[in-house]
Amino acid sequence: MSLYVVTGVAGFIGSRVCRMLLDTGHSVLGVDDLDESYDVRLKERRLAGLGGPGFSFLHADVSRVEEVRRIGDRLRGEGGRVEAIVNLAARAGVRASLLNPLVYLETNLTGTLLLLELCRDLGVAKFVLASSSSVYGLGAEVPFREDGDTNQPVSPYAISKKAAEELSYVFHHQYGLDVSVLRYFTVYGPAGRPDMSPFRFVKWVFEGLPVQLFGDGTQERDFTYVDDIARGTIAALRPVGYEIFNLGSDRPITLSRFLRLVEENVGRKAVVERSPRHPADIPRTWARVDKARTLLGWTAAVPIEEGVVELVSWYRVNRAWAKEIRTD
Ligand SMILES: NC(=O)c1ccc[n+]([C@@H]2O[C@H](COP(=O)([O-])OP(=O)(O)OC[C@H]3O[C@@H](n4cnc5c(N)ncnc54)[C@H](O)[C@@H]3O)[C@@H](O)[C@H]2O)c1
Repeated sequence: MSLYVVTGVAGFIGSRVCRMLLDTGHSVLGVDDLDESYDVRLKERRLAGLGGPGFSFLHADVSRVEEVRRIGDRLRGEGGRVEAIVNLAARAGVRASLLNPLVYLETNLTGTLLLLELCRDLGVAKFVLASSSSVYGLGAEVPFREDGDTNQPVSPYAISKKAAEELSYVFHHQYGLDVSVLRYFTVYGPAGRPDMSPFRFVKWVFEGLPVQLFGDGTQERDFTYVDDIARGTIAALRPVGYEIFNLGSDRPITLSRFLRLVEENVGRKAVVERSPRHPADIPRTWARVDKARTLLGWTAAVPIEEGVVELVSWYRVNRAWAKEIRTD
């Protein structure tokens, strides 16, 4: 049985990646500091769904030297060989990164550095880094290619991810660490992040609350279903040297269209409240995914119409507690 470390395991994507690893017979040490960037009850719910054989959890902050040392001690104590560290722990909101850039750099960059060093200490051969479509900023042409321009970022979040990518490259070059960098594109699905539009739209439409829409709704996003993303993350565990992969659906739609799909599935019209477009929002994301298809054998499988059905059904089933989750 092989052992993986998944950081950010109580998070939206981390919990799905962990579930898939456990379901395929692997062991996982999950790490998370359960930070309060959004309603912690959602993280606790996700964690509660991960119990069972093969899973253990360590409450630790990956951006602090002494806490990462504890992760190392725990892994040495367990004695098994660690196949890979999958680093999904992060501060993840684009807009919030303008309000508190320091914590973004500490978590996303220092945290990545400490985990890369942990790979060296423990002799772990593989590192997977969650990056983001945000690194493309304003300079790249759509559809975004992995070698597209990343020199016009619009948020500290984008910079923290780009810098983490490059730091990982250093560890590949200097120490032979095998690294897959994954640029995820707007991930949605059950138990998603309450600071992102998919969760918010569903909750607000269900509960008859005003739907806050930044801009005119014409901004396009390459929405990608969370199980596709988790599957791609696991596919990226194979040895690649150092590679960057877009993981996106390659089917961008406007925010307005996403909202219409939510309305259709909930069976209720949204009461829209418009605010000016946020300057940290890029107008359009769209992934070219040939590289992931060729090297990882991965493409997104879940069409947006099906994914929104899953998202809305999840909310319907979990509504009693999910409606209490704060979206501010
Ligand atoms: N959801 C998306 O659309 C999206 C898009 C692009 C990239 N990503 C990236 O994917 C990864 C997972 O994102 P997510 O949407 O699941 O976000 P999430 O916020 O739900 O998950 C991140 C988890 O990391 C934990 N964490 C934060 N700081 C930590 C620290 N210092 N130490 C330990 N744990 C810490 C949080 O408590 C949280 O549970 C992140 O790296 C994010 O930047 C997500």
